[in-house]
Amino acid sequence: MVLSLLFLVTILTMTTSGISDTNSFIFGGCSRLKFSPGSNYETSVNSILSSLVNSATFTTYNNFTVPGATASETVSGLFQCRGDITNDQCSTCVERAVSQLGTLCFETYGGALQLEGCFVKYDNVKFVGVEDKTEVVKKCGPLIGLTSDARDNVLAYLESSDGVYKTFRTTSYGDFQGVAQCTGDLSSSECQDCVSDAIQRLKSECGGSTWGDMYLAKCYVRYSEGGVHSRGHNDDENHNDDEIEKTLAILIGLIAGVALIIVFLSFLSKVCEKQRGGK
Ligand SMILES: *[C@@H]1O[C@H](CO)[C@@H](O)[C@H](O)[C@H]1NC(C)=O
Repeated sequence: MVLSLLFLVTILTMTTSGISDTNSFIFGGCSRLKFSPGSNYETSVNSILSSLVNSATFTTYNNFTVPGATASETVSGLFQCRGDITNDQCSTCVERAVSQLGTLCFETYGGALQLEGCFVKYDNVKFVGVEDKTEVVKKCGPLIGLTSDARDNVLAYLESSDGVYKTFRTTSYGDFQGVAQCTGDLSSSECQDCVSDAIQRLKSECGGSTWGDMYLAKCYVRYSEGGVHSRGHNDDENHNDDEIEKTLAILIGLIAGVALIIVFLSFLSKVCEKQRGGK
């Protein structure tokens, strides 16, 4: 009984903290122009965003376009989940990203948002299938001083990917880990080009750092010493969320446990009564 209770608490804690990781906010941006409420454009944006959310329950990448009367009224949208997360995590992540886009980019013609586990973008400017190496977010960790061979090995592998083309790549060498991800609308050579570009920028801009994140518009590369996902640049912001979610998980576990004990006790007392009644 006590064991199964502990088990329950552990599972709940594990799942909630896992989810909070893939849903951590990385960046978001919106176009400046706003559409008018109640317009056809609004209907198209809502339709695209809900198609993305639905689609994320069964695939890691998809794109949608709703044609309008003119080119500037035509909306496209896409999402890309990180290659190593589950369908459940992907759909939760895209759902979150879409809901945050609704707030952050309220009534704007375009918007893009990156969470830890997924990327979502919609716009009336054609961007699906268009390579874009604009630097969006760069973050470098503390300097280690000398450049590290392990770090460079990790980056070299991400760039070559064993000669086999992959949209998602991950590897580790020594204490260093790395991950690279392209959006699924790029061709293999465009993805390769984007990843190489991100790696060159990491090498030159995060020279001797223990970790680095380079988010370009259509791909990203991240490396770190001791785990890409364990350290966090948003440590302070996420810490509280994690704590709250853990506490919640433990509370839910305890309540479920107490409920089980009550059910068990009332069952016992019924059995006892029956036995007494039988005598
Ligand atoms: C966009 O989606 C359509 C329909 O699913 C698909 O045929 C097309 O290949 C996609 N385009 C890109 C660039 O991913």
